[in-house]
Amino acid sequence: SSGIDKELRAPICCILGHVDAGKTKLLDCIRRSNVQGGEAGGITQQIGATYLPVENIRERTSLKAEATIKVPGLLVIDTPGHQSFSNMRIRGSSLCDVAVVVVDITRGLENQTIESLDLLKHRNVRFVVALNKVDRLYGWKTCPNAPIAKALKNQSDDVRSKFIWRVTEVVTQLKENGFNAALYYENKKIKEVVNIVPTSSVSAEGIPDLLLLLVRWVPEIMMERLTYVNNVECTVLEVNKDKDFGTTIDVVLINGALRKGDQIVVCTKQGPVTTNIRYLLTPYPTKKLKAKAVYKHHEELKAAQGGLRHAIPGTALIVVKLGDDLEQAEAAAVQE
Ligand code: GTP
Ligand code: NA
Ligand code: MG
Repeated sequence: SSGIDKELRAPICCILGHVDAGKTKLLDCIRRSNVQGGEAGGITQQIGATYLPVENIRERTSLKAEATIKVPGLLVIDTPGHQSFSNMRIRGSSLCDVAVVVVDITRGLENQTIESLDLLKHRNVRFVVALNKVDRLYGWKTCPNAPIAKALKNQSDDVRSKFIWRVTEVVTQLKENGFNAALYYENKKIKEVVNIVPTSSVSAEGIPDLLLLLVRWVPEIMMERLTYVNNVECTVLEVNKDKDFGTTIDVVLINGALRKGDQIVVCTKQGPVTTNIRYLLTPYPTKKLKAKAVYKHHEELKAAQGGLRHAIPGTALIVVKLGDDLEQAEAAAVQE
């Protein structure tokens, strides 16, 4: 592959949708983790970022070793679907490059699906629809990890016609909300028409399709936007008090690189605070939410990854380099 491909950063992909559509379960299925099972009442209450390196994506798809993937991975951001957390859906949709809108095939578009579609329309964010829970179609024969075409071939005519009926209904509902959509494998205009990928987060049918579509379609529609630049673009997701590290901030590094020791300016309720990055940490993937997080230390992190650990969530992090004017940076922090 050419040197240009290597310069692409990981796209930031936000998962949106109505409560219980299966957003967290979908991510669990991809990561082979069980975050959803550890959530109180099965309800997501925070934004969470996961980095999926390209090796993981290759492992989940049937891509030949020589096939190129132009992005180094995907940074996936899970959001809550419960109606009271619209602030987090707004934050997620404002920092992502693309989105996956998860729709329960047995329920079609619901209130927070429509709210999410409106957010994406408003911000001009491109998205795919994961039409999830296909295994819930009555009579579905599970085909673990199968591409959706193969899984559909294995179904009875009855299940297949129910599937088509549900898809048609969702296509109509999307149209009513201003979007032309089609099953991705029938979509002749993948740059204009919204792709629908049928999935199951339980038996993983369609998961290879979803991952492949994302790593291929996203660089195709936004090559320029994904081109790595050395300017730090960074958003604070969360502020935490850690027993070992003191105050930590969770960030999404959208562009550029952070190094240990870099001077940063952070917006706090008391005004801009200048500090140095003491530790750069990324969490090891944890199987359970409640498990004590284990962190990997880094000297440097490059976009797009989650995970630097007294700021205001949703504000930008400003990095001061040698030669930069500190007062100017602090003034910029105030404006954020
Ligand atoms: P919130 O974060 O609360 O908005 O919900 P969510 O969209 O993250 O849904 P979640 O992953 O919590 O899943 C909701 C319920 O649906 C759980 O009981 C899951 O086990 C179940 N579920 C999710 N995806 C599937 C699927 O593909 N098939 C089946 N059968 N059940 C699913
Ligand atoms: Na849920
Ligand atoms: Mg969830």
